[in-house]
Amino acid sequence: MSVIEAKALTKIYPGDIKAVDTIDFHVNAGEIFAFLGPNGAGKTTTIKMLNTLLMPTSGTATVAGFDVAKNSAEVRRRVGYAAQDVGIDEHATGRENLSLYGHFYRLDGRTIKARVKDLFELVDLAGYEDKMVSTYSGGMRKRLDLAMGLIHEPQVIFLDEPTTGLDPQTRAHLWEYINNLARSMGVAIFLTTHYMEEADRLADRIAIIDLGKIVSLGTSGELKKSIGGDVVTLTPPVERDEELREFIKRTEAVLAGQPFVAEMKPSDGALAVYVNDGSSAVPDMMQILSGQGIDVKTISISRPSLDDVFLKYTGRTIRTQEGTRTNFAQLRRQANRRRNQ
Ligand SMILES: Nc1ncnc2c1ncn2[C@@H]1O[C@H](COP(=O)(O)OP(=O)(O)OP(=O)(O)O)[C@@H](O)[C@H]1O
Ligand SMILES: [Mg+2]
Repeated sequence: MSVIEAKALTKIYPGDIKAVDTIDFHVNAGEIFAFLGPNGAGKTTTIKMLNTLLMPTSGTATVAGFDVAKNSAEVRRRVGYAAQDVGIDEHATGRENLSLYGHFYRLDGRTIKARVKDLFELVDLAGYEDKMVSTYSGGMRKRLDLAMGLIHEPQVIFLDEPTTGLDPQTRAHLWEYINNLARSMGVAIFLTTHYMEEADRLADRIAIIDLGKIVSLGTSGELKKSIGGDVVTLTPPVERDEELREFIKRTEAVLAGQPFVAEMKPSDGALAVYVNDGSSAVPDMMQILSGQGIDVKTISISRPSLDDVFLKYTGRTIRTQEGTRTNFAQLRRQANRRRNQ
């Protein structure tokens, strides 16, 4: 049974910014579903529409069987939302924060008390109920955030980048809680992330979203299988950008049309060559390249990762965009051109 169903869901912000562009997907009861995409992909905008915080421009979405635009109060009662910017009061205790949320949902005092106890145990914060949140670590705050989204026993919980800014160890811990939550409470989890590993480890199914469009959707295994075979990454012994571009241009020209090459994409200072079978393709590839006087510094063979999947469908990697300023208008124009080709 689906707890979320989106059909041609679209959000256009003023200035004709198509943040979410005609997307279709569903989330099953008890499932962990991830939106994986870079900055500006439209993840938060989608979450806000599903949470009734933003009206869709067109299309429809139902959550727990209710239309987000027509039955927003019914939807709100059945969802929990841990926002991207942690929404807790630093100058109150964990218990006070959680109880306040319980009152928002008009739960009675006894129910609140019982759930505070259970939830603090669930997220492994038992013993910290009466400590000020200002004394919590980043990971503890995120766990409190999770608990706050659960106080009214929702059918779906939305987690917008739940582990951004956490160190790898804390992140791995949080994954365990999120996983336990889905399995022990049967609650569906819709999460957004730009960490491939997070989607890979945690989600039952993943939608890769870029520039407002879902470019691919399936289990991690299905997504990787969809690009097939192995990835051979060729890194040239160059330092300057022009030299790298020249290497990519020449190598692509030389390898184009070879029967073992399925596809080639520039990737982070290297060229990724998609082949059916890496171990048989590499010797042929090396022979052809050396015959043409093309030097290669390192060559590696790997199974496709979610980053390769992302690269294949969008022509970019998620990694290279982190921390850079992105010109979304320009990228959108490029993506539209690619789609219309
Ligand atoms: N209130 C707004 N008005 C106009 N444009 C907006 C508004 N909010 C978001 N956008 C634009 O819509 C697009 C999608 O933004 P959104 O916040 O949904 O992306 P995101 O995937 O959540 O990104 P991030 O990973 O940075 O959180 C971006 O181009 C963004 O600049
Ligand atoms: Mg966001």
